[in-house]
Amino acid sequence: MISLVDLVWCMLLLIGHRDLVVSGVAVNSARQLLDKPDWLYTCKREMPNENECFRKLFEGCFPALADGIPEVGIVSFEPLLIKSVELQKGSGNLVLSGGFHDLVVKGPSNATVKKANLDLPNNNLTFDIDLPLLRIKAKYNLKGNILLLPLVGSGDVNMALKNVQTSVITKISLRNEPEETIHIDEMKVSFNVGGMRIHLTNLFNGNEILGASINTFLNQNSDEIIKELRPDLERGLSGTFKGLWNDVFSKIPTKLWLL
Ligand SMILES: *[C@@H]1O[C@H](CO)[C@@H](O)[C@H](O)[C@H]1NC(C)=O
Ligand SMILES: *[C@@H]1O[C@H](CO)[C@@H](O)[C@H](O)[C@H]1NC(C)=O
Repeated sequence: MISLVDLVWCMLLLIGHRDLVVSGVAVNSARQLLDKPDWLYTCKREMPNENECFRKLFEGCFPALADGIPEVGIVSFEPLLIKSVELQKGSGNLVLSGGFHDLVVKGPSNATVKKANLDLPNNNLTFDIDLPLLRIKAKYNLKGNILLLPLVGSGDVNMALKNVQTSVITKISLRNEPEETIHIDEMKVSFNVGGMRIHLTNLFNGNEILGASINTFLNQNSDEIIKELRPDLERGLSGTFKGLWNDVFSKIPTKLWLL
């Protein structure tokens, strides 16, 4: 298969690796919000989904999360900064090692929550989030083979993902940290990407012809690349979103939003 697929996979992992970046900053702060902020809607604990209440509540948090909530150590996620994503992919037509670092992801704050359902008796929390456009800049360092071609490079990478639709199913539990909060125990993410553009600079030590052909190849085959990467991506995104949302939920006691 196409080795750059893995590259794309890495880039898409960005969201999942947010916890790597923010651990030490946002996580482990024991503090929780004490008072309800103005931007936080409230729903009925017995019927949280009545009139799309929970969906609105969930979506209503995005602007605040994009800015960050410094008083409880929640860092801004617009842009989302990811320190590094390592890659090690093994055998057959696709061999690739190396990774990406200093990722800057713009666009998460423009998310739309299509659906969100909270089912406390069954420990279910599900939501669908659409991201119209994610623009990613990073440094890359990769070495490997695509099909029979060597791929070697180190430089800048730019990427854009259009119309990313995610669907998330989770199992939750209630924790006291110290006030009661929601904790996501398991998460399963599925996604679709409407389109992808990618550009790697300085492939093959700056060989323009080889670099251009690889970039053209990646862009012409982006649908297949994404399809190929879907299982890995979905796993990666699960880790990402789980860390991200647990970080947030643990800081916002249910008593502030479930009445
Ligand atoms: C959010 O969407 C608007 C409208 O499409 C766009 O102008 C803006 O740049 C987007 N913000 C980010 C951070 O991508
Ligand atoms: C919610 O939980 C119940 C019981 O665990 C399960 O049967 C059902 O499929 C779940 N619903 C969703 C949407 O996951």
